[in-house]
Amino acid sequence: MTLGVVILAAGKGTRMRSSLPKVLHPLAGRPLLRHVLDSAEAVGAARVCVVYGHGGELVPQTLADADCSWVVQAERLGTGHAVQQALPAMTGVDRVLVLYGDVPLIEAETLNRLIADSSDTSLGLLTMTLADPTGYGRIVRDGAGRVLRIVEQKDASDAERAISEVNTGIIVADRERLAHWLGRIDNDNVQREYYLTDIIGLATSDGVDVVTAQPECLEEVAGINDRVQLAELERYHQRRTAECLMRRGTTVMDPARIDIRGRLDCERDVVLDVNLICEGDVYIGAGARIGPNCVLKDCYIGAGAEVLANCVIEGASIGADARIGPFARLRPEADIGRECHIGNFVEVKKARIAESSKVNHLSYIGDAEIGVRVNVGAGTITCNYDGANKHLTQIGDGAFIGSNTALVAPVSVGPGATVGAGSVIITDAPPEQLTLSRARQVTIEGWERPRKK
Ligand code: UD1
Ligand code: CA
Repeated sequence: MTLGVVILAAGKGTRMRSSLPKVLHPLAGRPLLRHVLDSAEAVGAARVCVVYGHGGELVPQTLADADCSWVVQAERLGTGHAVQQALPAMTGVDRVLVLYGDVPLIEAETLNRLIADSSDTSLGLLTMTLADPTGYGRIVRDGAGRVLRIVEQKDASDAERAISEVNTGIIVADRERLAHWLGRIDNDNVQREYYLTDIIGLATSDGVDVVTAQPECLEEVAGINDRVQLAELERYHQRRTAECLMRRGTTVMDPARIDIRGRLDCERDVVLDVNLICEGDVYIGAGARIGPNCVLKDCYIGAGAEVLANCVIEGASIGADARIGPFARLRPEADIGRECHIGNFVEVKKARIAESSKVNHLSYIGDAEIGVRVNVGAGTITCNYDGANKHLTQIGDGAFIGSNTALVAPVSVGPGATVGAGSVIITDAPPEQLTLSRARQVTIEGWERPRKK
């Protein structure tokens, strides 16, 4: 069976009160529509077509890399009309599944169940039962419990409005029959729209069975209309991500205070303190600990490493058992060796610091290669930029850089060298020697401080 997926995303999203199209608003760091595209891929869709709205060119532009076709619905004439716009893109497809760009958390498992329960001779409809069904299309069944049709809230009688089983909007149908039914619907209803839901009545009068399935939980089929609903689904999604982590052996100090906007891969016994934000791809090795208020983006953290409070780490790699922070900033291509210490108010960029070296306080290390067991004193700066180009600083194994040293790159400090505090190093410092550049200290004998008369 070849499956096609049509994603409806032509809504204006007025209630978002935003200049960004609704389906581009992020949930867990990715556009809502991206989540739906992922679900389409997860159910093995051979073709995917997104119906977007007039003026919404930013949608296909932003998701240009998606493996789907795009069709614009110039006028928003209803869900049935919208699906019809996508049918030309569904040639060669046996069955069509309809999803929604603003319903981001639908699970592939649920969709697979709906697809499996229905067949090419029946129509699959995902429904849910709500204590308050207001606003939704109601599922009308006959005495034997067979689905007869769907009636929209605005067109429903009082008796129909009392029905608590409602339409989620998600359906799967045989492509040829769907095309046939869509060709027969009209807009003779209160909203003057071509309702996709009208195909249910046409299917049953054609003798086609309507099979229903239900989602595991209501959040799966929750649509987003405003930023309040967006925030609610974000929290729900984050909670679930946290639960997944915990079940796989990670301690999450407070599952209500974690935000994973990308992929976080943790080995056993990782401890994540509160207010962590993860973006992109993050790997954390066994037993590593992340302190409160850290931002981790596209980074590797080795086993047993400790990242203390308030660190911002992006595009960096941290070796096993290293200790970072508090208040450290690791920028792209910072490569910190095992058992290194990077302390407070230290910024590292494009620098390799080999194992057991220490940069403990108030330093900037950029464009540098630092050997093993080097001690970089407080306030040390690599002066890597001359206003036009970046230059390299090299520090050999076992060197000791005194506090408040300026290393004017390109420059190197040999293995075992010592640099005196306060030095401005502009030429290479030889190995094993003490090098310093510093005005000699003098004491003026008999000097007296001026006094007020
Ligand atoms: C629709 C269903 C209703 C169901 C509810 C679930 C119809 C007629 N009704 O009602 O039975 O209970 O969803 O949320 O289908 N869209 C387009 N183009 C259009 C119209 C809509 O792309 O011309 C998209 C919207 O962007 C939205 C979705 O389709 O994502 C649903 O449209 P909306 O008008 O909100 O449908 P409801 O009235 O909520
Ligand atoms: Ca409507």
